[in-house]
Amino acid sequence: MGQGIAQSVAMGGYPVILYDIIHANLDRAMEAIGGNLQKGVELGKVTADQKKEALERITPVDQLVGVAADLIIEAVVEDLQVKRELFSKLESLNTQDTIFASNTSSIPITQIASALESPHRFAGLHFFNPAYLMKLVEVIKGNKTEAGVVPILMEFVRSIGKTPVQATDAPGFIVNRVARHYYLESLRILEEQVADHQVIDELLEGYGFRMGPFKLMDLIGIDINYAVTTSIFDAFHYDPKFRPSRIQQNLVAAGHLGKKSGKGFYDYQ
Ligand SMILES: NC(=O)c1ccc[n+]([C@@H]2O[C@H](COP(=O)([O-])OP(=O)(O)OC[C@H]3O[C@@H](n4cnc5c(N)ncnc54)[C@H](O)[C@@H]3O)[C@@H](O)[C@H]2O)c1
Repeated sequence: MGQGIAQSVAMGGYPVILYDIIHANLDRAMEAIGGNLQKGVELGKVTADQKKEALERITPVDQLVGVAADLIIEAVVEDLQVKRELFSKLESLNTQDTIFASNTSSIPITQIASALESPHRFAGLHFFNPAYLMKLVEVIKGNKTEAGVVPILMEFVRSIGKTPVQATDAPGFIVNRVARHYYLESLRILEEQVADHQVIDELLEGYGFRMGPFKLMDLIGIDINYAVTTSIFDAFHYDPKFRPSRIQQNLVAAGHLGKKSGKGFYDYQ
């Protein structure tokens, strides 16, 4: 998600520092961004100059020192503790004017913000996958987010050619809460052996969904999709309708994380 967000923001004309703890992931991200933009050039949607300028605006870094900006958009793993520790460090490297945002799919914004000394400058900015193509962005106001921060973020999202929608800080916000049932009911159909994953995908695509649930889970990353369900299940006090699937739990344990690992429900090797 970080790479797609970086591409969108750079295409919007802003300089971007792309930080990842793993250097190889930065190389992969820059390669993917170059590839996406090249595809855009071939399709006539991006000029060669726009591609070159966007790539020049992105500075990949694997050290946190120097990660200072007007706006920080975090997209690390879906783990509250990891996010809180990162924001505490980032806060010490930035000024009183920096706005902090998380791309979390499910962790309450107010919970992440509680690690910050200035939770009033923190909000959710939830992009969808693939971030460089999908227009919708949920802007989430946490309990302590200052009223002025939300309009700034709404304007920022518009300035990169996307569509902001304000959502409240409820578990899964809006889209992911509804979408949970697309994944979970399909996983239950698979568990009950009513049909295999290819058939379920084909049927739902035939019905008009852009992507079948199993292809979509592979694109999202099985680990991330499973972590999001687990966090929503927890936030709704173990409401059985959000119960995570053991099929996903097993795939995560086996390291079959979807497209990014070469295998998930489908084989990509
Ligand atoms: N995958 C999706 O479809 C999707 C959609 C919307 C939102 N999100 C959210 O975006 C976030 C990231 O999801 P993803 O699918 O891109 O995950 P991912 O596992 O593909 O990528 C996470 C990246 O974060 C890096 N990272 C981990 N810990 C770090 C740290 N402490 N400091 C710096 N970098 C660190 C990893 O090296 C990795 O490159 C999650 O919060 C997820 O809920 C994901």
